[in-house]
Amino acid sequence: MAEVKTSNRTLCADQLLGNPVVSIYEWQPLAEFIALVMGESELHTMKDALARVNVMAYKEGESLNWHFDRSEFTTTLLLQAPQSGGEFEYRTNLRSEEDPNYKGVSQLLLGSDPLKCSINPKPGTLNVFRGINTPHRVTKIEGSKERIIAVYSYYDNPGVKFSPEEQIGFYGRAL
Ligand SMILES: [Fe+2]
Repeated sequence: MAEVKTSNRTLCADQLLGNPVVSIYEWQPLAEFIALVMGESELHTMKDALARVNVMAYKEGESLNWHFDRSEFTTTLLLQAPQSGGEFEYRTNLRSEEDPNYKGVSQLLLGSDPLKCSINPKPGTLNVFRGINTPHRVTKIEGSKERIIAVYSYYDNPGVKFSPEEQIGFYGRAL
């Protein structure tokens, strides 16, 4: 199996102040819509100065390797699509809270999971998925146009913040 590196450049919420991408995140009807879609009674924006909204750019040759997310679900908004590559691949419910399904994970990593899906999002595509049990990756970007994506973090309780240690772990700095 070929080794795949994860690399990108990330802007945190404190570097996006006044940007429409933050206004969309804070637009209450969006949180209400996502709550309805995900079957949550309510959703709240995060209070974390860095993590609430992230914008990530992937240039030619960059990719995001297979992983599960730590949060219950993940919301992304594609801002710019690359010329080619940069597909979003996922495998729905590969594991559960009770069953880590290591055999299934290894099958996916070996490229032989028949239930692996792939989508090619367009700019403006809103994607909401349960990344905690649905592993996902972004294939290698091809061409000079970067793939630029906003990641929105919503939680079922208000005021969620990372600890300074978590901020440093994710971003290399704390605020
Ligand atoms: Fe993820």
